[in-house]
Amino acid sequence: MKHRIAVFASGNGSNFEAIANAVESGELGDCRIMLCVCDKPGAYVIERAKRHNIDTLVFKPRDFESKRDFEKMIADKLDSLGVELICLAGYMRIIGEELLERYRGRMINIHPALLPAFPGAHAIKDAFEYGVKVYGVTIHHVNEEVDGGKIIAQEAVPYSGNDIEELEAMIHKTEHKLFPAAIKEFFKNEK
Ligand code: GRF
Repeated sequence: MKHRIAVFASGNGSNFEAIANAVESGELGDCRIMLCVCDKPGAYVIERAKRHNIDTLVFKPRDFESKRDFEKMIADKLDSLGVELICLAGYMRIIGEELLERYRGRMINIHPALLPAFPGAHAIKDAFEYGVKVYGVTIHHVNEEVDGGKIIAQEAVPYSGNDIEELEAMIHKTEHKLFPAAIKEFFKNEK
């Protein structure tokens, strides 16, 4: 197996599923999702992973003394599986030093806005309330700053309507295309 990835998610997991579908269809070449990491027992992404026969690592941060402790547990597991790229797909936690140190340059995140505009956990709502006319999606490297690393891919989503649910659906549709494309791009540049 050439490329081994792990996908981290905290909730619904539609981006996880888009990546899993892209892997299964061969779009990503010789690539496999080794693990789905989830910090929320009960999250729907766990069901999706089971349906795709992908192993899960589900944990409760509260069961650990510190972020370093649970990140060490995760990174040890990823190392044992030979994971070379972490894809953060709606993982709603700030990445700490342990993962940053061990996966620097090998961890990417999806953000539902055109960074550096609208960082943070409520990007779509923030942009909508601001009244922008061009929304979008960003895939970027992860560093110490929240939503701050080098940009890998971006796609604009023009929308002038008034229906936030319609807007969210458009943004998610773009995410589901852009994340697999960015993973492919990452590996192409790794060669
Ligand atoms: C996505 O909009 C992603 O950009 C953001 O969290 C959301 C996760 O959605 N970081 P899902 O769990 O992949 O459906």
